Amino acid sequence: MADMPTDFWGGWIAVITVVSLAALCWFVFSIYFAANGQDEGEAQVWDETLGEGSNPAPMWWFWLILSLMVFSVIYLILYPGLGSYSGVLKWSQGGRLDESFASYREQFGEVRQSIAKATLESLQEDPAIMASARRVFDRKCGICHGSDARGQASRFPDLMDEAWQWGGDVAQIEKTIRSGRQAVMVGWQAVLGDDGVKQLARYVRELGQGGQTKDDDPGKTSYQQFCVACHGVTGEGNIMLGAPSLVDDVWLYGDSAEDIEQTIALGRNGFMPAFNDRLDDTQVRMLLAWLTRIQ
Ligand code: HEC
Ligand code: HEC
Repeated sequence: MADMPTDFWGGWIAVITVVSLAALCWFVFSIYFAANGQDEGEAQVWDETLGEGSNPAPMWWFWLILSLMVFSVIYLILYPGLGSYSGVLKWSQGGRLDESFASYREQFGEVRQSIAKATLESLQEDPAIMASARRVFDRKCGICHGSDARGQASRFPDLMDEAWQWGGDVAQIEKTIRSGRQAVMVGWQAVLGDDGVKQLARYVRELGQGGQTKDDDPGKTSYQQFCVACHGVTGEGNIMLGAPSLVDDVWLYGDSAEDIEQTIALGRNGFMPAFNDRLDDTQVRMLLAWLTRIQ
């Protein structure tokens, strides 16, 4: 109750509680110990045989109610319950949580800190750490990237291959995980028209297969005009922009003619959420070790 909006309400609740307890006490005592006026007069009779009895309530009820009231009073002294009074024991749910966090930190803090600072190689050599890294991955990332990090649904990239759209250095992968990534490739349908899209898609597929492309290929002309800025002259891509290589035979969105036509016509906007607030340093370090391990 310590977070009651104002003292007034805390006080109000305390008064109601104390007054109700006192009234209940008075009521119970009056039933058992007040002089019983009805003994003196005639007992009230409602019908021929239906009379108002004056049997006293059994005494064990009294003791039961009394002990419950004593229990309530002791409880209210020890624990929070009386308005904003926090009780002699200062117990609180939040307090319990803080305590268990503190003991968790005490128990594992050192180990966790040493993991956050360890070299990736030493983490990769420890099977227990790799196993918990995998559990973190399954919990936080598996839903999109698949539980073996092999990617899925032609939307979520394979993280076990050699191709890194946003860079495969540890620092770049860490940035991807902490800050997230938003890929922006706009659609070119309006600029190129249906035929233009088809020609360009054919060209891109030839480029991907390493085929010799002709200089007068209209697809090549469009590529050099519209695509070079992000995907590079030879289609090698640009990790600064998250523009993938078009010549590594890795296709996030599929390599069929229709898939590539769709990519070019409508664009793609893959979004990787930021995990800085959802993972601590230890977890990020373990994930980095797991993702860059040699299998
Ligand atoms: C909501 C789905 C989602 C979740 C959850 C998610 N990712 Fe991603 N991630 C994506 C998408 C989509 C991309 C591709 C972004 C793009 O198209 O550029 C991506 C890209 C990446 C990349 C860049 C790959 C490259 O080729 O450069 C890395 C690394 C990565 N994710 C790691 C992780 C890790 C580690 C986690 C768990 C902490 C995670 N992701 C959780 C959706 C997700
Ligand atoms: C502004 C920079 C930019 C330009 C210009 C651009 N792209 Fe892209 N392209 C990207 C980015 C970023 C992605 C990754 C999209 C994603 O991951 O969601 C991408 C993805 C692709 C893909 C999908 C690759 C895969 O793995 O599935 C293809 C194909 C592609 N671009 C072809 C082209 C062609 C052809 C052009 C020229 C018309 C072009 N792009 C122009 C930035 C660009």
